[in-house]
Amino acid sequence: MLIDTHAHLNDPAFSSDLPEVMERVLSAGVENIIVVGYDVPSSLRAVELALQWKGIIKAAVGIHPYEADEAHEAAKREIARLAREEMVVAVGETGLDYYRRLSSREAQQELFRWHLELAQQLQKPVVVHSREAFADTLAILREFSPGVKGVMHCFSGSWEMAREFLRLGFFISLAGPVTFRNARKPKEVALHTPLDKLLIETDCPYLAPEPFRGKRNEPSYLKYIALAVAEIKGLSWEEIAQATSCNAQKLFCDSRAFRPI
Ligand code: NI
Repeated sequence: MLIDTHAHLNDPAFSSDLPEVMERVLSAGVENIIVVGYDVPSSLRAVELALQWKGIIKAAVGIHPYEADEAHEAAKREIARLAREEMVVAVGETGLDYYRRLSSREAQQELFRWHLELAQQLQKPVVVHSREAFADTLAILREFSPGVKGVMHCFSGSWEMAREFLRLGFFISLAGPVTFRNARKPKEVALHTPLDKLLIETDCPYLAPEPFRGKRNEPSYLKYIALAVAEIKGLSWEEIAQATSCNAQKLFCDSRAFRPI
């Protein structure tokens, strides 16, 4: 059993063949998927999919840092309303992205804090996107520690940086890049992150793992990420599947994750 903790089945890339994608999900042993919103329409769609695929899909709702400059009060109100729904297990994705610079740093930081306040208020975990912005991400998360827990999704930083987020009680999630031959950092992070703090995800439709690199990604490819992590850690595929699924349940379904460590 595997849990894909970050998938964008709400992306238009899946608009024409979602039933077929979901059939492959079930035969690939993926038992649960968290469909993550990145703006209001995609968050609404994530909730819709969670209703349609009850028992398999859960939703996360939020506004991506790319959209921070455009995130007005009405959009925030709608996300805050959706976040209260039972099938919504997390707030996000949110965070900081200084790599693509699609929104100003100030707007990103303000919107990130807004999501963290919402997560704290609802006692739900937060799904964090951080790219080339680890120091600021860490500083802002510290402001909300230990009240807010969550996951560093598709973590692209070094092991030294991962350790800082682990100290705040965050989980580290690895995606397709851990299967890429020349990706040194995700392999180091996979090696050193304790098994009880590791999650896996596809981040589909992006970042397909080997041997599908460059193609559209989908949740049924999650096993390739589990296999790569297993090889790096010298464990079996089943051990990785079991540990990461247990971690995902702990973080997203069990409120005890919020007790201060
Ligand atoms: Ni994402």
